[in-house]
Amino acid sequence: MTISLPDSVIANVWFVGSSPMMQELRIQIARAATSWLPVLIEGPTGSGKELVAQALHSASGRIKPLVVVNVCAIAETLFEDSMFGHVKGAFSGAISDRVGLLGEADHGTLFFDEISGLTISAQSKLLRAIETGVFRQVGARADRSSDFRLLSATNFSLDEAVRAGSFRSDLRYRLRGVTIRVPALAEHAEDIPELARHFAREARVVATKELSDGAVSMLESQPWPGNVRQLRSIVECAVTFAEGPNVGRDDVIRVIEQSHSSILSDGDDVERRHLLDILRTFDWDSKRTAEYFGVHRASIYRRMHQLGIAARQRRRYGGEAPGAA
Ligand SMILES: Nc1ncnc2c1ncn2[C@@H]1O[C@H](COP(=O)(O)OP(=O)(O)OP(=O)(O)O)[C@@H](O)[C@H]1O
Ligand SMILES: [Mg+2]
Repeated sequence: MTISLPDSVIANVWFVGSSPMMQELRIQIARAATSWLPVLIEGPTGSGKELVAQALHSASGRIKPLVVVNVCAIAETLFEDSMFGHVKGAFSGAISDRVGLLGEADHGTLFFDEISGLTISAQSKLLRAIETGVFRQVGARADRSSDFRLLSATNFSLDEAVRAGSFRSDLRYRLRGVTIRVPALAEHAEDIPELARHFAREARVVATKELSDGAVSMLESQPWPGNVRQLRSIVECAVTFAEGPNVGRDDVIRVIEQSHSSILSDGDDVERRHLLDILRTFDWDSKRTAEYFGVHRASIYRRMHQLGIAARQRRRYGGEAPGAA
């Protein structure tokens, strides 16, 4: 079957890359977007799974938003309340109704990120709602329903999780109407120049800066275990720190070397300045800063605390308190 104009179907989501793999991915997205089947998006970290989810949602024409649920971030004790919501008076403190994530996704798309992180008990609670779209809010006397398109993403093979006994086989089948596999960057390395130039243009710097051919070939020679996200971080930093309008090979090498030097080494002013630079580059986004350094987010919080980059610097929005982890 030929799908015409796959690019235009997902046009409002930037999807860079003209390699055969990326073209195939676009076709799969266009094809899946026309059906109602749940889609399981598989791929390594930073490869673009959330972007695929956004593209699927945007191409589906659903009028309501994409509700992104990072299942690992929901505490077990709050799972039902977060997912299904509650009615007023359900428990002390329930002073008004809460719709819950499934209700919020009505006429929209529900995207379960890192689905393999669901506990077995949470999987059991979700199964019926996913099968039927029907669920009961905490404290309610009757069921309610929600019409959502279901997408989920995983870094780990659900088949392996099922074999290991940590994932319910029946839920796996419910999630996997269609599987879309997002390749690692190393599998479509020919897209690196196009991606790198795109990220250089996107980098929020005042003047336009161009990546030189030498910088691009340096980027092409790297292994990219953190995939497209890591490429983006390195390009953004190289563009930010390069002094002239031309981002050279040396600018890229410097950023790559700095990102390899662990921030867990002995603290000093240089390290403090470097960490501050990177935090500012990523607008105080600790997740992206951690990805840049290749360490866990908790290590960033700990190091910020040790280096005296503390609560006074906390992000203006999001309310995330460095040092709180
Ligand atoms: N083909 C692409 N074109 C443009 N940007 C891309 C592409 N693929 C990935 N990106 C960008 O790379 C970054 C990482 O992508 P995304 O968050 O979708 O990855 P992910 O697979 O969900 O990662 P994780 O498993 O860590 O959650 C994002 O900034 C995204 O916009
Ligand atoms: Mg993701």
